[in-house]
Amino acid sequence: MAARPFSEGDTILLLDRAGNRRVVRLRPGERFHSHKGFLEHDRLIGAEEGISLRTQTGAVFTAIRPRLADYALEMPRSTAIVYPKDVGIILVWADMYPGATVLESGLGSGALTLALLRAVGPTGQVVVYESRRDFIAPALENIRNWGEPPANLLIRECDIYDGIQDGDFDRIVLDLAEPWRVVPHALSALRMGGIAACYNPSIIQVQQTVAALEAAGGFGMIETLEVLYRPWHVKGMAVRPAHQMVGHTGFLTFARRLAVRSGPTERLDAADRTAELEGELPARPLP
Ligand SMILES: C[S@@+](CC[C@H](N)C(=O)[O-])C[C@H]1O[C@@H](n2cnc3c(N)ncnc32)[C@H](O)[C@@H]1O
Repeated sequence: MAARPFSEGDTILLLDRAGNRRVVRLRPGERFHSHKGFLEHDRLIGAEEGISLRTQTGAVFTAIRPRLADYALEMPRSTAIVYPKDVGIILVWADMYPGATVLESGLGSGALTLALLRAVGPTGQVVVYESRRDFIAPALENIRNWGEPPANLLIRECDIYDGIQDGDFDRIVLDLAEPWRVVPHALSALRMGGIAACYNPSIIQVQQTVAALEAAGGFGMIETLEVLYRPWHVKGMAVRPAHQMVGHTGFLTFARRLAVRSGPTERLDAADRTAELEGELPARPLP
């Protein structure tokens, strides 16, 4: 795609020399204000992406279109969000694909929803169950500010613990306090071979979720993992890990909907999978 100059209504990212970042929606006649001075939006509308401009106090800001991850980190939040490092593995490990139908709960601030919408594309659908009415409007605002309001997003204000009224989803993604209470409903709402993904900040939640998945009798290939993201500082001879990192966000549990088996469901944890891939463990025979 050819470079596109910024236009009215675009959401852009302004970065100063210290690495501070702000997401701004461009509107004619408005000003972006910071403690380092201001920039008129009219100087940015029509400018090339990547341009650097000075405020009236001489501070330099570089303007660029944000990645979805930048936007999600900067947008207003009503709730904790799923961080980009975890979003990335949810998309790959749950194998989100264009055209997939996904059930998500809850909506929260819409960070994960935005990534799911992008992954399934216009031919897919994302249905979100959210119990808190007051969270829905701000999350929708976040979603609309990222781009065109998606026609393939359906938000239901309801409690998913009461049941799932829609059905035959390719994927189910849960980020709420008690995902184990959704497991019995997910059993009938997820198509055979479909994938469920749960994000849990606490390992106690993981234990209960895995127990529920095992007890349900229709889930297998259960795997729990966490993603450790460690940025590095690379400047001249100083090449080392960054002094600070996000120590913990959450754990991710994935499971596949399988035909009911009489015995206990097979459990595959991340260490086993790695060992198997590296040939340290023999690959298990098919049942
Ligand atoms: C941590 S937030 C989700 C954040 C979201 N994944 C994001 O990235 O922005 C959890 C959300 O689940 C919602 N929730 C909690 N229990 C629920 C339930 N039983 N049914 C539907 N939504 C629920 C909460 O109101 C909250 O909005």
